[in-house]
This record gives sequence, C-alpha cells and structure tokens, in this order.
Amino acid sequence: MPKSELTILRIGLFALLGVITAAAVYITFEITHSAKALAGQALESTALSLSYSAENALQFGAKAGDEIKSVFSDRVVAYALVASEEGRILFHTNSRLEGQTLDKVELSRWHPGEKASSRRIRLGTGMPAAEFNFTIHSPGEGKRLLRLVLHTAGADRIAAEAGRLWWIVSGALLLLWAVGILLERTFTRYRTLRDRMEREERLTLIGQMTAVLAHEIRNAVGGIKGFSQWIGEKTEDGDERKAAIAGVIRGTDRIESLVNDLLLYSRDETYDLRDLALRPAIEEALEPFRSRWGGRVELEEDRGILVRADRDKLERVLTNGIRNALEAMGAEGLLKIAVHPEGGQAVIEIEDSGPGVRDEDRSRLFTPFFTTKTSGTGLGLAYTRKVVEGMGGRVDLASRSGGAAGAILTVRLPQGK
Ligand SMILES: Nc1ncnc2c1ncn2[C@@H]1O[C@H](COP(=O)(O)OP(=O)(O)OP(=O)(O)O)[C@@H](O)[C@H]1O
Ligand SMILES: [Mg+2]
Repeated sequence: MPKSELTILRIGLFALLGVITAAAVYITFEITHSAKALAGQALESTALSLSYSAENALQFGAKAGDEIKSVFSDRVVAYALVASEEGRILFHTNSRLEGQTLDKVELSRWHPGEKASSRRIRLGTGMPAAEFNFTIHSPGEGKRLLRLVLHTAGADRIAAEAGRLWWIVSGALLLLWAVGILLERTFTRYRTLRDRMEREERLTLIGQMTAVLAHEIRNAVGGIKGFSQWIGEKTEDGDERKAAIAGVIRGTDRIESLVNDLLLYSRDETYDLRDLALRPAIEEALEPFRSRWGGRVELEEDRGILVRADRDKLERVLTNGIRNALEAMGAEGLLKIAVHPEGGQAVIEIEDSGPGVRDEDRSRLFTPFFTTKTSGTGLGLAYTRKVVEGMGGRVDLASRSGGAAGAILTVRLPQGK
C-alpha cells in the first residue's frame, strides 16, 4: 500500500475518533446542563405553585391559618412563614414562632416591590435548601411576605447524577481512543511487514534472474576476451588492428567487472559472523589506496573496538566506502575515519571533504544502478546496504552538517564481545 493511502487511512481513523469525541462531549454537556436547569426549574415551579396556594388560603379569613398549614405540609417544605410588612410573623410551620417579629436583616431579604426573590442557603442542620421570598396579597390587608424554604436534596441529586455522566463518558472515550491507537499501530505494523515481504519477494526474483543472466554473459564475455587476447598476441606491434583489439579487451574488462558486481549484489549471501578488531580491518582496507592517493588520511586512535561481522563483507563495505570518498574528493582532500561504540553497536564513520550529497539524490543513493559517475555501476552502496543489513546493522550516507563540505558514510554493526 502506498504511503499516502496509509496516511489517508490514519487521518480518517483519527478524524472519526475526533468527531465521536466532540459529539459525545457536546451531548454530555447538553444533558448535564439541561438536567441541572430542569432540576432548578422544578424547584422554582414547586415554590410558585405553593405561593399561589398560600395566597389563596389567605382568602379564608378566620380559617386561613389551618389552610396555610395544610399547604405547607408538603414534604419539600423545610419551613415557611407569612409575615406582615412590618415583619410580624402571622403564620409559621413552627407555630411557636407565630407572633414574633423578624429582625431587620431577616426582613431586608424581602423586596415588597418585586414578585419574588430567591437564594441558596444552608439550614441549621447543614442541609442545602433554597429560600424564596414572595410578595402575596391578603384581601383588605395589603402586602404580605411569604418565605418558603424548600429542601434541594432531590434537585441536587439529579445534578450530581448528571455530573457522574461525565466520568462514564470520559472513561468510554478513553477506551475508544486506546482501541483506535492500538488498531492504527497494528495496522501500520501489518502493512510495513507486508510491504517488506513483497519487496523481498520481488528482489529475490530479480536477483535470481540477474544471477542466471550475469553468469551466461560472463561465460560469453570470457570467450570473447580469450580470443581477443589470442588475436592480440598474434598481431604484430605497430599493426593498427592491435590497437583495435586492445579496445575490445578493455570493453570486455569493463563488462566483466560490471557482471562481477552484479553477481556479487544479486547472489544469496551467507554470513560467517565473527568478532573482529575494527582498526586492523580499516588499515587493511586503506592500504591499497595509500600509495595511489595524494590527500591526507586521519585515522582515529585505536580503542580496541570489536565488531561482529563477516570478514570479507566488512572488507568490501569499507573498501566501497573509502573508494566513494576518494572519488568524491578527486586528487586532494581529507579522509577521516572514526569508530565509536554506541548502544551495543560499533559505529564506523567515513568522512570526506568532497562536495557532499545532493538532497534530491539522498533517497536514491542505495538503489541499485544509481550513479552520478560516468564509469560507475551504482552497485557499491546497494551492495553495502544489503550486506550491512544482512549482518544486523544499518548504513546511512549524508552530507556533513555544520556548513562543512563533504559527506559521511555511517555504518552501524553489532559490537563484538
Ligand atoms: N562520499 C560520497 N560523496 C558524495 N557522493 C557520494 C559519496 N558516496 C557515494 N556517493 C554518491 O552515491 C552514488 C552511488 O554510489 P555507489 O557506490 O553505489 O555507486 P558508484 O560509486 O557510482 O559506482 P560503483 O558501483 O562503481 O561503486 C555515487 O554515484 C555518488 O553520486
Ligand atoms: Mg562506489
């Protein structure tokens, strides 16, 4: 599956989770909000209907007291009283308080000009309650204060239940996200694995075809080269045919080296892994270049680092890396080779002062046949990656950072014990 499809799938999954989360949060907010509002409204309407009943009861003249008491016998009423404008208590659910006078503070909460006012209070017992102050009219006697104090425990319980809904919804959403993320992880891993298997299958097939083809070409070219050499030997010096045949031999040499590289790259490798000292391996790989190259070579001091690798393959990896570095620099320059351990791995860095790698080439450097050289085959780095990964390591080629020109080939291999 292409990367972009995987990204779309991922975005889709997380968008869906986002929408579900937003919807759940919105709905929960609405439910809790309206539950609280409804509970408050229910309390208010109870108070209002009680106030109408009380106002009605005042019509009963002499029997008004009994009527009002029966109105206030409702379970939600904590206590209630009717007082005159001066504050004298005319009726009280606790009849012992009748005849007493409300103090200024008590009276100040009543605004006779308004129909009603309310506030939340706490009773002497610590229970929550709501106090309503109504202005009612007594026939022929003017305005009266009706103070209703109602229990709010019922309404508060509804609000608390609604609050608990948040916990349940949050838990469910958390679970949903966890499952979503797990799903995404599993799917990504499955795709990566499948892609890798497909690539490997393809490469194996190409490898087998290439190996057969390369073998046939090598045999044929061997014949051409042999005959050409024979003709060359039979031809007199100075004969112009001798120069032509030398050209043919150079061509066959080139084909032979290409085919050898191809065979090397395409064959199924087996690895003879041993603990090897890195420094001597690097010295050995450098040796053939020392006399042929005019630049400066800096080799980090030996710290006795061991690497777990196949000797021949490590040798070829180092040779390829050094050759690329020297080819990048030309006749002059500075080649630095450093080695250090890092998290159980031996890290080899081959650094040059050449032009570095272009950003647009970076993704293709390790692809077989990618080359920017006229006489390159582009198999050096492809082979390097194949065997380094085959030995359980990783390889990377990048321009030097920090403004310095040049490139660094970094090879990581398991450290030896
Ligand atoms: N040290 C380096 N500095 C800059 N570019 C590099 C360096 N090493 C490799 N490259 C780039 O990577 C390309 C691929 O390298 P690779 O070794 O695979 O093939 P090649 O060197 O071109 O040919 P050959 O098969 O002969 O090695 C090179 O052509 C070059 O463009
Ligand atoms: Mg090369």
